[in-house]
Amino acid sequence: TGIPVNKKNIVLIGFMGVGKTTVGQLIATKLGRDFIDIDQYIEEKYNMPIPQMFKEFGEQHFRQIEKETVIDICKNQHNKIVSLGGGAFQQAEIRQTCLTSSLVLLLDLSWNSWKERMDILVDNRPVLHNRTLDEIHELFQQRQLAYSKHHLKIRTDNQTPEEVADFIVKKLQ
Ligand code: S3P
Repeated sequence: TGIPVNKKNIVLIGFMGVGKTTVGQLIATKLGRDFIDIDQYIEEKYNMPIPQMFKEFGEQHFRQIEKETVIDICKNQHNKIVSLGGGAFQQAEIRQTCLTSSLVLLLDLSWNSWKERMDILVDNRPVLHNRTLDEIHELFQQRQLAYSKHHLKIRTDNQTPEEVADFIVKKLQ
């Protein structure tokens, strides 16, 4: 969209718990750019944790806010590192806006590796609540179609966030 690559936003996508926030923060520091985590941004703007938003207003309400927020940031900000929530790319408008305005990086983790860290994730992730492992696996697989739309994929199995961030920074230079 006419913005030079080095001024474009870099958007991180991927399933819950793959490290979008940690890696995003590291890349931002390494590149000297500002970092925006969409979920944290929404929590601060609406002064409410996301699990509570789900409980009080429902997932659809959150998805609407998520859509407005991502589109606003992608269109009106430049040169930022932005991490999205794991469900954001399910929304066609979010996909389209990010893919045309930004450089979209997928953090990709195998199901087996993901499963091992699942216990520490479930607590503040309402979409995982009351789901069996099989159901979560199904969700994991369903999401892959939306994630297949990206500019660059980084496999993160057996890599520390630091290693993933270094790899990305090298790729960008
Ligand atoms: C969600 C992922 C979460 C957060 C919300 C819904 C999802 O973000 O946006 O709980 O549907 O996958 P993280 O990917 O940062 O956990």
